Amino acid sequence: MTFTFRLSLLLLVVVGWNLDSTSAANILFLSPITSYSHTHFFFYTIKALASRGHTVTHWNGLKPREDIGNVTHLHSSGMQKVNSRHDIGFDTNNPVRLWLKHPDRMANTCRTCYNDPVFHQLITSREHFDLIVIEAFMNECMLPLVQHFRAPFIYMSGLPPLPWMLESTCSPMSTQEYPNLVTEFTSDMNLIQRTINIAVSVVMVYFRDWFILPRVDVEARQAWINSTEPLPTVKEIENRLSLFITNSQPSINYQYFKSSTIVEAGGLHLRPPKQLPKDVESFVNGSGDAGFIVLSFGSIVHGSGLPEATRKIFVAAFSRLPQRVLWKWEDESGMSDLPPNVRLYTWLPPLIDLLAHPKMRLLMTHGGLYSNQETVWSGVPLIGFPVFGDQSNYVVKAEKDGYAIKLDWMTVTEDILFHSIQEIVNNPKYKENVMKLSSLMREQIELDRPLERAVHAIEHVVRHHGAPHLRPSSCKLGMMQRESMDVTLLLALIVIALSYLTVCGVRSTTFKVFRWAKADRLIKTKTQ
Ligand SMILES: *[C@@H]1O[C@H](CO)[C@@H](O)[C@H](O)[C@H]1NC(C)=O
Ligand SMILES: *[C@@H]1O[C@H](CO)[C@@H](O)[C@H](O)[C@H]1NC(C)=O
Ligand SMILES: *[C@@H]1O[C@H](CO)[C@@H](O)[C@H](O)[C@H]1NC(C)=O
Repeated sequence: MTFTFRLSLLLLVVVGWNLDSTSAANILFLSPITSYSHTHFFFYTIKALASRGHTVTHWNGLKPREDIGNVTHLHSSGMQKVNSRHDIGFDTNNPVRLWLKHPDRMANTCRTCYNDPVFHQLITSREHFDLIVIEAFMNECMLPLVQHFRAPFIYMSGLPPLPWMLESTCSPMSTQEYPNLVTEFTSDMNLIQRTINIAVSVVMVYFRDWFILPRVDVEARQAWINSTEPLPTVKEIENRLSLFITNSQPSINYQYFKSSTIVEAGGLHLRPPKQLPKDVESFVNGSGDAGFIVLSFGSIVHGSGLPEATRKIFVAAFSRLPQRVLWKWEDESGMSDLPPNVRLYTWLPPLIDLLAHPKMRLLMTHGGLYSNQETVWSGVPLIGFPVFGDQSNYVVKAEKDGYAIKLDWMTVTEDILFHSIQEIVNNPKYKENVMKLSSLMREQIELDRPLERAVHAIEHVVRHHGAPHLRPSSCKLGMMQRESMDVTLLLALIVIALSYLTVCGVRSTTFKVFRWAKADRLIKTKTQ
């Protein structure tokens, strides 16, 4: 055997062993608190990992949509109930009120999780996991399981990062150019907007640290009351984060500075379109050159909860259109005043299949992130009626990028709606702009598909039993220090102190001069 041959054999064995050790991975996905849109981001990743031979156990708060080989679904009806009732509708979307209710909501959901049979099945199983993946939004009560199983963990987020997520990855807040998801600011902010943007971000981070996470700790201690060792706080466990995979995409979302802990995999769910169901296809086929429009408010807000006055406005505007309209309307009893060009569907085929149809002219939506990604990917303009949370932020960006019109469902009138639809359908600039973005997005996806990026990042963490090397040394700093707010404060104090000393100095000198002048005059008068 020559030396090189032996070397390559050795390499083969080493590389083979390496691959084997990854392919044997046992991965636990935790998303007991979730929504259909959030689990979507997980679903494709889990499928890809399973097809590469990994064993996946998924505690899914929603009923799994299909059985997949190598994947064990853990699911209970209790969590299903929690996750299909979000208490968010057209009239309950005040962000401050939602935020203030958050600590209670969190404590309740944690208690529900810890009382769930799936949770008890997990902690008594004594199974070994190579990696834990936690859905990043609202699932902090899963962090003690990271301690329990002594496994590395990563977050996956169906949203672009919120301030505390950037904080957990030790990334800068990028407040100068990255508008907080709950604001309607764009990346061009003036002084006042940047001040508000910083204030909102700082308040979110500290509100979570001071009022939300301690509630999780209380519930967790209750759940682990029989544990022989003390449980670290969830904040301490979160500091071991290996990786943060997020659903943002630089050709659609605002950009931000990232530490190496963040992997952007926005649009990983995008796939080639499938054939539409027969009845839907024949309806849209029959729309002639005018084409068709889809109206859907997503999975959390029920379209049929639309206030009656607004519904009438939609019906009146649609009746004036040459286009056919598909309207997602969950109420089985339908509408009595429906124009002939409009059809109601309690269930619509996946948007991505509708958007791919050549006669699709426009999507009217609440403006969630997935509909945004799918319309750009498919090259269809949109009209957004943001309802709550991050939706306004995406629609404002889409309007700024020239492929969308933002309307307010509370103040919209029949004429505004009709003319906005006409504008999008007849003015070619919307289609042109979205096609430009679509080609940018497709090119990055073709060269380096986000799903492959996510899978590679996950396997990297598994192979190296965590990824402390990806965490920057700024992780040792608090947010105030990382943002150099303490330095700014120190400099401001120095400037104030110096100004004060200067003023005092000038004043006492003036005083001395004045006294001297007065004394001088006195002496002069005396000697005269
Ligand atoms: C499950 O893993 C095996 C390898 O262990 C692989 O051959 C198979 O294709 C996987 N099944 C699915 C459905 O991905
Ligand atoms: C703690 O252990 C006792 C006795 O084994 C048991 O009855 C109790 O239910 C346990 N408590 C919890 C919160 O698991
Ligand atoms: C719709 O039109 C396409 C293209 O013209 C055709 O291939 C398809 O069979 C039609 N489908 C139905 C259900 O009419």
